[in-house]
Amino acid sequence: MVSARLRRSTKSRLLRIALIISLIWSLVEVVIIRRELALQDQLQNHRIQAFDGRHHKIYIASEHWNNEAVLRESWNAALVDLTKMLGPQNVYVSIYESGSWDNTKDALRELDTELERLSVPRNITLDEHTHEDEISRPPGTSGWIDTPRGKKELRRVPYLSKIRNLTLRKLHELAQSGETFDRVLFLNDVVFTTQDIMALLATNDGQYAAACSLDFAKPPTYYDTFALRDSQGHETVMQTWPYFRSRASRTAIKYGQLVPVSSCWNGIVAMDARPFIDLDPPLQFRGIPDSLARAHLEGSECCLIHADNGLSSSAGVWLNPNVRVGYRRAAYDAVHPLNGEAWVSAWQVFTGLWQNRIRRWTTTTRFKSWTVGRRVKEWEKLHPDEQEPGEFCLINEMQVLVENGWAHV
Ligand SMILES: *[C@@H]1O[C@H](CO)[C@@H](O)[C@H](O)[C@H]1NC(C)=O
Ligand SMILES: *[C@@H]1O[C@H](CO)[C@@H](O)[C@H](O)[C@H]1NC(C)=O
Repeated sequence: MVSARLRRSTKSRLLRIALIISLIWSLVEVVIIRRELALQDQLQNHRIQAFDGRHHKIYIASEHWNNEAVLRESWNAALVDLTKMLGPQNVYVSIYESGSWDNTKDALRELDTELERLSVPRNITLDEHTHEDEISRPPGTSGWIDTPRGKKELRRVPYLSKIRNLTLRKLHELAQSGETFDRVLFLNDVVFTTQDIMALLATNDGQYAAACSLDFAKPPTYYDTFALRDSQGHETVMQTWPYFRSRASRTAIKYGQLVPVSSCWNGIVAMDARPFIDLDPPLQFRGIPDSLARAHLEGSECCLIHADNGLSSSAGVWLNPNVRVGYRRAAYDAVHPLNGEAWVSAWQVFTGLWQNRIRRWTTTTRFKSWTVGRRVKEWEKLHPDEQEPGEFCLINEMQVLVENGWAHV
């Protein structure tokens, strides 16, 4: 009797001690991590200076749709600033806009005038075709799909791929006339600074297949979940810091280090230009085959591009957590504290670490991998000549273009 009670109280005491120790450890971890995050942000200037990318030639590719607000708020000015810094002789600006119903076109015309004044070589295409025009065309042979709502509809991803490919048109034309580039810089409709771009270009001392920023629309959650996959090809386990499931990606982001990933896009991406120029056919954006999409699967063109890129495995795809951009100024400011502190608060670090653990312990990627894998296998059986290298990009969705944007069906 006595010894049983004794054992029980010893047990509960041990439990209490374990809890206290793990709480203390968590608090120590918070302090260590926040110091490291602040330090890594401060080291950015140093890395930019150490990286000698002054003579690099940068092809800037960007597409816009209803982006007047961010263009006028900051994007235009930031791009002008960037071209001044890089030097007009080292850049080419390729912008493709289509079907905006706000004054995106006017905002881009103003940018065009400014770049003209600075003699920046460029191609700014303003396309009048709207989404409505695109979806009311007679269905083409590819990029259309029979949807559960009994219609043949235009798939969103092949449409976006087409536009992204159009932003690369000049890269190919210039290559044919002997002018090549070292990097392709894809700029989304985000708030950024020249310093951000310099830091991104200097990622891993310039050694990468692709380097991405981290993007925020409503901080603290990050935005582009469709394209981000950790080092093992898994989706993030949560949308707030520290995001990742795989140990390699998670450990890196915890300490503000470059994060090895299978795929990322997230606002701004710098890629080695060679695969877009030297290969025949060149690396290009694409959607998964229509026949596979029919199995109710979809994958982002911004993920598939990494799956298709032969350089991804040798040079790496990296998410640079010290380059953080926002879809509006307020979002940008929220992830750039002015006082030199860590960009993740103590509370966010504390709760983030625990949420991440609990989610990893209580969830599995097996069901999703099984569902996607089974559909891909069935498709492969029916299409023995085709394969899909981007299986890790796929999710259980069907996305089509609609008049005012896009929809899940
Ligand atoms: C942009 O490039 C395309 C393809 O070369 C060309 O057809 C178009 O005229 C160019 N537009 C401008 C404004 O230079
Ligand atoms: C992507 O671009 C290439 C050439 O630049 C083109 O042949 C291909 O059809 C495009 N893909 C899509 C999905 O539009």
